[in-house]
Amino acid sequence: MYKSKIAGVGHYVPEKVVTNKDLEEIMDTTNEWIVERTGIEQRRWFDPDKDTVANMGTRAARQALERAQTDVNEIDFIVFATITPDYFFPGSGVLMQRELGLQGIGALDIRNACSGFIYALSTADQFIKTGMYKCILVIGAEIQSSALDKSTEGRSSSVIFADGAGAAIVKRSENGAGILSTHLHADGDFAEELYVKDPGSSRKTRLSQELIDGPTFNLTMNGNTVFKHAVVRFSEVINEALKQNNLSAEDIDLLIPHQANLRISNFVQKQMKLPEDKVFNNIMHYGNTTAASIPIAMSEAWEAGKIKDGDLICMAAFGSGFTWASALMVW
Ligand code: UT7
Repeated sequence: MYKSKIAGVGHYVPEKVVTNKDLEEIMDTTNEWIVERTGIEQRRWFDPDKDTVANMGTRAARQALERAQTDVNEIDFIVFATITPDYFFPGSGVLMQRELGLQGIGALDIRNACSGFIYALSTADQFIKTGMYKCILVIGAEIQSSALDKSTEGRSSSVIFADGAGAAIVKRSENGAGILSTHLHADGDFAEELYVKDPGSSRKTRLSQELIDGPTFNLTMNGNTVFKHAVVRFSEVINEALKQNNLSAEDIDLLIPHQANLRISNFVQKQMKLPEDKVFNNIMHYGNTTAASIPIAMSEAWEAGKIKDGDLICMAAFGSGFTWASALMVW
């Protein structure tokens, strides 16, 4: 069995900055409420003339390739995590593959929402372990802002979710460093606690003007239920990873949690008894970018010198499905 490691990370976020003050103009909300309840100060929303999920992914990928000192033609597989693909089908993986000029190699889309990047990383890890592939491009990219109810009615979700992309180049490890374990979980009993109902193939009309104008076309979230499950599952899945590797929380050099809500991250930090500087948060600047949040955070943490060779890095996520997951690695 081979071992895999992340050789480089990159990210891209749309240029348009939307502050809490901007949201005050379009719905009944306040900067104070948003900062206090979520920690978010601003987020990015895509430019319909410029940004697609696939091309944001491509921009993040190019940065990751440069940092991994890897030629694009070394990539032998693509795993693309998104719940907001450019088309109903095919997935965004093939669109990004076309943009990178990699026609012919396999491209897989993963639809596991906020846990999507860790599910994608775990998938890449399995392919590298078996020797089937040597260099896999793993992407998390989302455009959430086009499916948010930006009226007062939708304010509890629309102030949170936002757009962006992150990428990782996952390669066969040559020096013993790399991914120690991944743990993936799901519980479909809670599928409708956080979802977008339409368009859906099981209804008579996949899409109609009535659906587009109605409430089911936008993201729907029971925030309180999601919050309560998230704080339990985050710690649980991190501890599962530590236990399997005979490690303890104090061995972690940096925890990169999915950026769901700063209160969730702070809660997990306290539960795990980690010092503040061992948990990386950037939700203040980008909101919750679903599958993109972990690779964007990882890329920024790397840029800030908070991830160094030999560090024990833990990632954890919780989101729609419900799904939750962790990944533990030596950088
Ligand atoms: O990515 C993974 C999945 N997502 C998450 O992990 C999100 C988890 N949930 C949360 O982060 C929080 O539940 C929210 C931030 C979504 C909501 O915060 P909360 O503290 O749970 O607020 P709430 O929904 O209980 O609402 C409290 C009050 C309500 O008013 P009343 O009924 O008490 O008068 C809401 O109408 O806050 C009101 N409210 C707002 N007020 C101003 C809800 N959204 C807003 C808003 N601005 N944007």
